[in-house]
Amino acid sequence: MTDLSTTIAGVRFPSCFMNAAGALCVTRDELVALGESGAGAIVTKSMTVEPRQGNPEPRYYGFPGGSINSMGLPNLGYQAYAELIPDLKRYGKPVIASVAGLCEDDFPTIAAIINAAQPDLIEVNLSCPNIPGKPQIGYDPDASERVIKRVRSLITVPMGLKLPPYFDPAHHEVMGKVIGRHGIDFLNMINSVGNGLVVDPEREAVVIKPKGGFGGLGGRIIKPVALANVRAFYKVFQGRIPIIGTGGVVDGVDAFEHVLCGASAVQIGTVLVEEGLGAFDRLKNELATVLARKGYRSLADCLGTVKEL
Ligand code: SIN
Repeated sequence: MTDLSTTIAGVRFPSCFMNAAGALCVTRDELVALGESGAGAIVTKSMTVEPRQGNPEPRYYGFPGGSINSMGLPNLGYQAYAELIPDLKRYGKPVIASVAGLCEDDFPTIAAIINAAQPDLIEVNLSCPNIPGKPQIGYDPDASERVIKRVRSLITVPMGLKLPPYFDPAHHEVMGKVIGRHGIDFLNMINSVGNGLVVDPEREAVVIKPKGGFGGLGGRIIKPVALANVRAFYKVFQGRIPIIGTGGVVDGVDAFEHVLCGASAVQIGTVLVEEGLGAFDRLKNELATVLARKGYRSLADCLGTVKEL
């Protein structure tokens, strides 16, 4: 039997598939459903200090090949997640708390209280593209470093960063230097490809309301960008920092490609929203089939081994 379990920063995941922060993980009911599903972990919605309704609707639109969203961080507020986390740990799978913020001061406020609730890991989200007037922190190395410094000493569970897509090796290098200075335990990439625009030619209109229709792209269309970022950071750190690959995973082969590029685990967003929780069991079967066909008994056998020509 092919082993789809994985270990990230010393934490064992029964399967390498989990939800991306944002996909079906805002409310208590959604988080419990993830616990009861075939997911290998429960990832919370990225939380802010105050509860948020998020951006005006429509704010998500699926189309063949992908999706665009501008949710605007709808969430229950960190206090509510701090109360939920101990209960979510009863499902025998890791709980990852995703921490966001509307300003730099928010991050340490949330990190201290969430760390006290002892999720198994904390992801610091530097990459939400959907808050009007708030640029993605991850595109500013100095701001990223300030935020990382302020939370690093407060977080005692494994701490990771959720990164935006970068499009130039110079950016992988400069962010690699920032990340390398602060003892980051894992990385998660990529967040949605920010500020895309989808137009419906029949209605001659954009398809989501916030920000004049601009939003984060997800789904299969972003897979090459996700794979490139996984590969680039795997090489920057020579595999020393485990990576969760996110972006464009629709089937088991997509997940296999992420693993080949260096992802120790895989998150799903668009496909989870479109298909529901059954996606986890389908993906596990498909990935197990691919690995077995190729003679691999575990993810470790092919982690980061993609060949260059
Ligand atoms: C959102 O809530 O707008 C998406 C969250 C994110 O991209 O980090």
